[in-house]
Amino acid sequence: MDIDIFAAYESNVRRYGRSYPTVFTKSLGATIWDETGKPYIDFFVGSGALNYGHNNPDIMVPAIQYLNDKNIVLSLDMYTAAKRDFIAVFVESILKPRGLSYKIQFPGPTGTTANEAALALARKYTGRSSVMAFTNAYHGMSLGSLAVSGSASTRQLGGVARHDVIRVPYENYPNQTFDSASYIDHVLGDPGSGIEKPAAIILEPIQAEGGMNTASAPWLSEIQRICRKHDVVFIVDDIQAGSGRTGDFFSFEFAKIEPDIVCLSKSLSGSGNPLSIVLIRPDMDIWNPGEHSGTFRGNNLAFVTSAAMCTMWSDRQFTTAVERTADKLQDHLDRLVAKFPKCIEQKRGRGLMAGLKCRSQAVVDRVHDVAFENGLLIESSGPNRDVIKVLPPITISDVELDHGIAILDHALREKTNGD
Ligand SMILES: Cc1ncc(COP(=O)(O)O)c(C=O)c1O
Repeated sequence: MDIDIFAAYESNVRRYGRSYPTVFTKSLGATIWDETGKPYIDFFVGSGALNYGHNNPDIMVPAIQYLNDKNIVLSLDMYTAAKRDFIAVFVESILKPRGLSYKIQFPGPTGTTANEAALALARKYTGRSSVMAFTNAYHGMSLGSLAVSGSASTRQLGGVARHDVIRVPYENYPNQTFDSASYIDHVLGDPGSGIEKPAAIILEPIQAEGGMNTASAPWLSEIQRICRKHDVVFIVDDIQAGSGRTGDFFSFEFAKIEPDIVCLSKSLSGSGNPLSIVLIRPDMDIWNPGEHSGTFRGNNLAFVTSAAMCTMWSDRQFTTAVERTADKLQDHLDRLVAKFPKCIEQKRGRGLMAGLKCRSQAVVDRVHDVAFENGLLIESSGPNRDVIKVLPPITISDVELDHGIAILDHALREKTNGD
């Protein structure tokens, strides 16, 4: 297999190509194939960007039809029939059944652009400049998103100062006895705290890159209450945990909260086509026309696939199947935790957004390599890269799920035997 061209011409910055040193060609559902024809079960799914699997026919067939019929693809933020259909389906199938009411902004196509827009709007709305962000947060690689991210190696990038961020402890940080919500409440109300009132608090309900740390429903409601009490905009970055990943469409539904702003991207298109939206509490939509701009605001192919994906959430059979798959995955992981105590410290995450906190990065690295050799893609996360992310498509078949877990079991067993 020829991979020399990548080393010769592609920048050193490439990462996942090094992690999975083969050349991929085809993909369907939870399986991808390299050019030798070797299949791999995908428990990584584009880092949460393919929750509905690869080339899901229910999502891709309408897109193929759309292209075949010579429909418009790029339209900046002009009105198109595809955008109209997407908005209608998103409102009817996603927002209304959940009792949510938002205006929809289409920023550029990536997650980080959505976060930049959310932060800019919160600053404009409040007239304040600083933002509260959490330990181990990850919000993207553009400067504003980098500033609110936690990881030291990520934050060092950019080479310029990242001002106006107040770092606060996420739930259970640094340990389970510290009550971070009441700390935040206290410093915001105390004129002697030395902490100015921020424009916004931004958080991920599950910190994926930060190590699959999960916020509880009471903690999320408390943060919302604190935001309302102190008149601070509450932004939820649901870019990786949303769009179905936890088994609900939004990862915060279980907490019955209604954030002021919600950012979605990654799996939002359902197909791997780039698409982002910022959901804005209607009275906060104070943008002037064209004030926040960008070329790729509204990729019509992504609108078509996203509308097909959103429709699936109105189908009871679909949502029941996702819940069942989430339970099955959780059972599998409980079994692995009990079986490999020398490798695994604890299970993390919720629903199909799961992780295994391991005893060290060395364990994760070895398990990753053995899994890859045996046909399974997994990735690591966390500040010490000692958490295995387990993100199968939420539509994965039982056979593929069982097969992927069997390969993971084998890789963990090999690691235990090797110790
Ligand atoms: C929670 C979260 N926010 C933002 C981003 C950035 O998204 P993008 O890589 O599309 O800019 C990511 C990407 O992993 C993410 O996980």
